[in-house]
Amino acid sequence: MKSLVGKIALVTGGSQGIGLATVQALLAENATVITCGRSLDKWKLAVTQNPALRVVDFQAVDLTQSSELQAWFASVRQTYDRLDIAVNNFASNERGIGEFAKLSEAKINAAMHAGLLAPLACLREEISLMQQDARGGAIVNVSSINGLRATPGAAVYSAAKHGIEGITKSLALEVIGQGIRINAVAPGVTLTPSWEARLAAAESPSAMKASVEQIVPLKRFASADEIANAIMWLCSDAASYVVGHTLVVDGGLSQA
Ligand SMILES: NC(=O)c1ccc[n+]([C@@H]2O[C@H](COP(=O)([O-])OP(=O)(O)OC[C@H]3O[C@@H](n4cnc5c(N)ncnc54)[C@H](OP(=O)(O)O)[C@@H]3O)[C@@H](O)[C@H]2O)c1
Repeated sequence: MKSLVGKIALVTGGSQGIGLATVQALLAENATVITCGRSLDKWKLAVTQNPALRVVDFQAVDLTQSSELQAWFASVRQTYDRLDIAVNNFASNERGIGEFAKLSEAKINAAMHAGLLAPLACLREEISLMQQDARGGAIVNVSSINGLRATPGAAVYSAAKHGIEGITKSLALEVIGQGIRINAVAPGVTLTPSWEARLAAAESPSAMKASVEQIVPLKRFASADEIANAIMWLCSDAASYVVGHTLVVDGGLSQA
């Protein structure tokens, strides 16, 4: 990959998991990296573990709060006035998981807001920043294999991710004339802190982990770095002819 020196890159939810792996990969390519998360303490921990992250422009922002989202992008606009790369990664714990009929309207609305409407609001801001000059840019939306197939028990999460798939395809064609490439990555099971928390809450974490690994043809979870590798490729000039595509990175799970 060519170095990203001089490129401004933004990642939503970059303090752990796939977002953090992407921040680290962008930094390794010498991009200027902007990211956010709700918890400053979580970010401080990441910096303690990897002091190279000190140069990243991190702000504590809750992207499900419209006013905070708007204020963050306003500060990005004021500081940088443009954007070359954007990765819409964040997802909240409000995923609307559980039997659909038993979910409250408030829970469904919160899950759709966090999973779809907030990422759409980010996309609007990112495209607007990329339109500041004629240089175009690359955007990657983090979807899921649950956005490509049925997921009983997580219907609202699946609906939000199907929405991410739809916006990726349609918006890609709306903005490609301005040199902005939009694509998506659909991870399968990836061992991030959110999955680690799910395993820890299980009656037998090791049995649950083994049963998940058993259904993946590759017989293991993805690492966050493996998903970040795919994101980085889609952001790079090596993917210059790839538009409105979803790159599935799931160890064969969706083919099983
Ligand atoms: N892990 C998997 O198996 C898997 C599979 C398929 C798809 N995905 C997708 O991959 C993406 C990342 O997943 P992950 O497992 O890496 O997630 P994660 O471990 O839960 O990390 C989420 C990141 O987003 C931040 N975040 C959460 N809510 C936020 C909010 N309201 N405003 C701003 N930042 C927020 C978190 O920091 P704070 O908590 O401090 O806010 C954290 O940095 C998600 O879109 C997820 O749906 C994951």
